[in-house]
Amino acid sequence: RFTPRVFSGIQPSGGLTLGNYLGAIKRFVDMQEQGIETIYCVVDMHAITVWQEPDALRRQTRELAAGYLAAGLDPSKSILFNQSQVPEHAQLGWVFNCVARMGWMNRMTQWKDKAGKNAEKASLGLFAYPSLMAADILLYHATHVPVGEDQKQHVELTRDIAAKFNNDYGVEFFPLSEPVIEGAATRVMSLRDGSKKMSKSDPSDMSRINMTDDADTIAKKIRKAKTDPEPLPETPDGLEDRPEARNLVRIYAALAETTPQAVLAEMGGKQFSEFKPALVDLAVDRLAPISEEMSRLMQDPAEIDSILGRGADRARQIATPILQRTYDIVGM
Ligand code: ADP
Ligand code: NA
Repeated sequence: RFTPRVFSGIQPSGGLTLGNYLGAIKRFVDMQEQGIETIYCVVDMHAITVWQEPDALRRQTRELAAGYLAAGLDPSKSILFNQSQVPEHAQLGWVFNCVARMGWMNRMTQWKDKAGKNAEKASLGLFAYPSLMAADILLYHATHVPVGEDQKQHVELTRDIAAKFNNDYGVEFFPLSEPVIEGAATRVMSLRDGSKKMSKSDPSDMSRINMTDDADTIAKKIRKAKTDPEPLPETPDGLEDRPEARNLVRIYAALAETTPQAVLAEMGGKQFSEFKPALVDLAVDRLAPISEEMSRLMQDPAEIDSILGRGADRARQIATPILQRTYDIVGM
């Protein structure tokens, strides 16, 4: 009953990492090319759930939009916009704050990780984040949500909110959106610690590859990436207890648009001294053009703002009637 429609977003809370690229943006581009309607957002209202320097937030919002464009998102094929320019997100988010239960939010692992032991000092917005994310998705009746593995629980909560709303009001109004978590790199790990996710908030810059890193920096980070002394196995089951090796093979596979099996069929038996330079070449080959295009785009911030402004107008054409109908169902 619901037309297939894709929605996803990324926070402008810092520079983009290789994890964001392989787990999210690259797959956004793939879905754009499948001819489905695609809507991609810069979620600045999520970013301010933790403190952001105002000028840095403005710059990071444009830089993320530049990253979307440089990686191949095309404003004539996808709707690209900034969340705070479409106030219906906050309006539907409030309705969902009244649908979601405290107990559901308390069980979110990202809340527990980010608030840590000091939940008393976390913002109310950080706690409500998954309910705003449900609004982001359901404001467009999105059926598919491409995300990395760490966001699976939030998309499941979105389904719970949709189901409770539909049930409470006796309607079939919101779809049960599906998380789309596919490919070799749905959880890119830190280069320094195979048990931690690669993240823009990791204090060590050596733990991640940033989309804006130059070729020398990428080479240095991969050369210094933690590994073990064994050669690469011939098949993926040989990677099971080798998180660092597995991570590098998955990164290679995702960048080369192939599978870990295919990578190991070629590279199995080789030492890291041979595999790492091949990975450096591949990473530089794929990332350098994107980072060059990002810096070119960043020289014309007015053009980025105007692309985001046009995207927001198009987003509102979809969002406004869905919010109005929601208010009507609720009795407002
Ligand atoms: P971050 O987690 O870097 O702060 P976001 O929370 O804005 O970034 O996540 C944006 C998208 O990037 C989400 O779909 C998330 O799942 C994905 N993502 C973030 N880090 C990784 C990673 N290390 N591996 C795979 N996907 C990731
Ligand atoms: Na995340």
